[in-house]
Amino acid sequence: MESLEEKISLIDKTRVPCHVAMIMDGNGRWAKKRGLARGDGHMEGISTVHRVTKFSSDIGVKYLTLYAFSTENWNRPDDEVATLMYLIGWAIERELPELLANNVRIHLLGDIGRVPAASRERLDYAVSSTAHCTGLQLNICLSYSSRWEITEAARRMAREAAAGKLDPDAITEQTVAGHLATAGMPDPDLLIRTGGEERISNYLLWQIAYSELYFTDVLWPDFTNEEYADALIDYQGRERRYGKTSEQVAAE
Ligand code: FPP
Repeated sequence: MESLEEKISLIDKTRVPCHVAMIMDGNGRWAKKRGLARGDGHMEGISTVHRVTKFSSDIGVKYLTLYAFSTENWNRPDDEVATLMYLIGWAIERELPELLANNVRIHLLGDIGRVPAASRERLDYAVSSTAHCTGLQLNICLSYSSRWEITEAARRMAREAAAGKLDPDAITEQTVAGHLATAGMPDPDLLIRTGGEERISNYLLWQIAYSELYFTDVLWPDFTNEEYADALIDYQGRERRYGKTSEQVAAE
C-alpha cells in the first residue's frame, strides 16, 4: 500500500478539481461502534473537517463545500440539534486563527436565520474576518437543502419579474444559477460522500449536473488524507464528457 506521499505524487497538480463538495456521513455510526454518544462522533468529525480543509488548501482546491447540517436535520432529536449547532460555532471560533493563517475564506450557504444566535454570531464573525482571504473558499452548508435553495431562487426571480426588473422570457440557466446560494462559483467537479450510502440527500442538485460522484464506505471521522488522495486519483482517471463522445473530448 502506498504512503500518503506516494499517493500525493500520483495526483496531477495541474488537474486538481477546482471545486470539491462533500457529504460528511457516518459520525453517528462511528460513535456507536465505540459505545460513545453521537455528539462524540460529531466532535471527531470536526477533526476530519480540519484535515480536509488543510489538505484541500495545500493541494490547490479553490472551493470546498461541506454539508454540515441539512434542512431535514432539524428533525433530529433536540439534544443532537443543540449539540451540532453548538459544535459548529465552537469549531469555527477555535479554527479561525488557522483559517486566517492559511488564507481560507469562510462562506455560509443555507437558511442561516434558523441557526441559534450564539452560533450564528460566531459564524458571522468568521465570515467577516476572513472576507479578505484569497485562498481556499470553505463553503459551509448549514440549514441547507437544495430544494430550499431552488425554491428561494424561484421566489426571488418571481419578485424581480413582478417588479419589472426581470423579463421572464429572458431567464436562462445562467439567470437561475445566479440566484442560487452558489452564485458566482463554479459547479463542483467532484462530490465525495462518506459513510457507505449512495445518495445525494437534497444536496446541490442543480450544481452537480456534471459532477463526478465518489462514494466510500469509510465513516467521516475515519476519512483520512490517504482516502481523500484516493478520491482525487480516482477522479483524475475519469473522462468528463459533458454529453459529448469520447472522440470529441479527445479532439478538444
Ligand atoms: C452526518 O453523520 C453528519 C452530520 C449530520 C453532521 C456533520 C457535521 C460535522 C462533522 C461538523 C461540521 C463542522 C464544521 C465546522 C463545518 P450522521 O450523524 O448522519 O451519521 P450516521 O449516518 O452514522 O448516523
